Amino acid sequence: QMNYKVVVAGAAGGIGQPLALLLKQNPLVTRLALYDIAPVTPGVAVDLSHMDTPAKVTGYKGPEELPAAIKDADVVVIPAGVPRKPGMTRDDLFNTNASIVRDLACCVAQNAPKAIMAIITNPVNSMVPIASEIMKKAGVYDPARILGVTTLDVVRAAAFIGDINGVDPCCVTIPVIGGHSGVTIIPLLSQSQPAVKLSDQEKIKALTQRIQEAGTEVVKAKAGGGSATLSMAYAGARLAGSVLRGLKGESNVVECAYIKSDLTEAPYFANPVVLGPNGVAKNLGYGTLNAYEQELLKAAIPELLKNIKTGVDFANKC
Ligand code: APR
Repeated sequence: QMNYKVVVAGAAGGIGQPLALLLKQNPLVTRLALYDIAPVTPGVAVDLSHMDTPAKVTGYKGPEELPAAIKDADVVVIPAGVPRKPGMTRDDLFNTNASIVRDLACCVAQNAPKAIMAIITNPVNSMVPIASEIMKKAGVYDPARILGVTTLDVVRAAAFIGDINGVDPCCVTIPVIGGHSGVTIIPLLSQSQPAVKLSDQEKIKALTQRIQEAGTEVVKAKAGGGSATLSMAYAGARLAGSVLRGLKGESNVVECAYIKSDLTEAPYFANPVVLGPNGVAKNLGYGTLNAYEQELLKAAIPELLKNIKTGVDFANKC
């Protein structure tokens, strides 16, 4: 099947609109369904439908139109939610966003149980467990089909290393493992290809912290105007594109993603995975960590466990 339906849930938002724009340009997307509660959504779909690319774009507005939006989807990308304001952590978003992801996952379970969900809504560390628990309750859980989008962490790391090394960032390969907030973001700078041109450990530490706090760098710079949207849309579109390439049978499609995992004590963990015809085909693990990276992992695990428990507890209350 080379005929893919991709849904963007939260398509009218700061991430959703540029994400839809990028997906409309992907030749693998034949049907693009835009769902949001915002009244502008059908108009966003009409706007994009005037582009001369093959994807047929349809807008769906409000919960009564959600099942039709989701029906027969191959990939559901979820940026629906409320974004961070200055001073807010990703966890402050929890309750609102948790309910949104719960309801979307329920609808996916009923209308497209085989769809691959790519979750952007924060806190991603908790949202993936929520969607997983909801799919379990519905009896359609497949851990290979639920991914938390951590691609932006990889994209940022590559951009920063490209700058430092004075090379094109798209030639930089750098695994970022763990989760998608603060100390759970673990860039494996020792595995960067090409090697990061930084002489001492202090500078490695500073770069690590910049990658971990890059979301906050955007929130501050936008001064009340929201969090990362354009770079997130780029990252989401890249991940969704890789998922589609995997579905279509392309080999060696590798992306970092936050998935169900048994590599560490944390039952969900991000690292490079191979994407295939059924979602995650293989977990590539994270190779050898140096002493500093082991320290980062040690700091990340308790935070991940806490975030995961918050998600699971929320889902079990539903
Ligand atoms: N169903 C669908 N869409 C919804 C729902 C819902 N129940 N609730 C809100 N939305 C939509 C909003 O109408 C809006 O169009 O989600 C969109 C969110 O867009 P923005 O408010 O612009 O937020 P954005 O910056 O895109 O961030 C969205 O992604 O990175 C995360 O932390 C971020 O969780 C936040 C999410």
